[in-house]
Amino acid sequence: MTDRRRFLQLGLAGTAALATGCAATTLEDRNGTAPARPGAPRGPVFLSTWDHGLEAARKGWNVLQAKGTVLDAVEQGVMLIESDLGSRSVGLGGLPDRDGRTTLDACIQTHEGLAGAVACLEDIEHPISVARAVMERTPHVMLVGEGAKQWALDNGFPEKKVDLPEVRQAWQEWLAKSAYKPVVNIENHDTIGLLGVDGTGRLAGSCTTSGLAFKIHGRVGDSPIIGGGLFVDGDVGAACATGLGELVIRIAGSHTVVELMRQGMEPGAACKEAVQRILRKNPGLTEQQVGFLALRKDGAYGAHAIYSGFNFAVRTAEDDRLLESPYERKWG
Ligand code: GLY
Repeated sequence: MTDRRRFLQLGLAGTAALATGCAATTLEDRNGTAPARPGAPRGPVFLSTWDHGLEAARKGWNVLQAKGTVLDAVEQGVMLIESDLGSRSVGLGGLPDRDGRTTLDACIQTHEGLAGAVACLEDIEHPISVARAVMERTPHVMLVGEGAKQWALDNGFPEKKVDLPEVRQAWQEWLAKSAYKPVVNIENHDTIGLLGVDGTGRLAGSCTTSGLAFKIHGRVGDSPIIGGGLFVDGDVGAACATGLGELVIRIAGSHTVVELMRQGMEPGAACKEAVQRILRKNPGLTEQQVGFLALRKDGAYGAHAIYSGFNFAVRTAEDDRLLESPYERKWG
């Protein structure tokens, strides 16, 4: 389904006028912050990026209802998307790097701040589960490349080679020009991040992706970086990121969002400040997307993105829907 993934490329005509404060439609206030629910039971709440987040958040919810832990929930939620070979941005169906190799990045973090990650992992269906195993079975946080794959194979994760004609064709089409241009996603799927809090205020988060299409082999984005694509602090809340990983890593994006919440900012305001920090640090930035989600331990949540078009799923006792994130600039 390569044709489903059409991109707007850098350099295209079309301006993105600054529209600071442009609020999206469905969140409850201009900062995209759902109010804490005084008197309501805390959690469970699941938040997840893009359209595919709907399925992931529902799965997380169901795992919790079936007496799984919130860590099980955030792992199993994104595993669904990793297994979807129709996804061109997550899992083994993801678009490859410039050498034609699909390389996967993922991380997971617990309420206590324990963390596991893998980067540049090939031929393994569930990088998120390898990340969890690294966390639980080794003294380390992150394994990369060949070492990560060998460790995964040695620890019972089967090798799975996938060669999809659509993906090969997309790569061959890219090779004809070999133009490396990060792109704004207009198809509502990209990195998947899943944040969850259970009914007792316990948090966990996961993040998994095949990364930027046609990247240099060995390039790693924000998604497996604790504090970049994901950060969980059981005292405060959790955050995750999607979009161009280099922009997120440079401001330790998800960590920044959680630290701003620690200082008292509402979740949506914290996401907005992180987005605005990216824009301040990159004054020439144009047509590059980043979106953040934030979940406070009391269940309040928020989102913010550079450009319009970033959506996310929310699953609570009352809600099972996609919301449009507030943004700084209207796309197109
Ligand atoms: N956010 C995913 C990446 O940049 O790889």
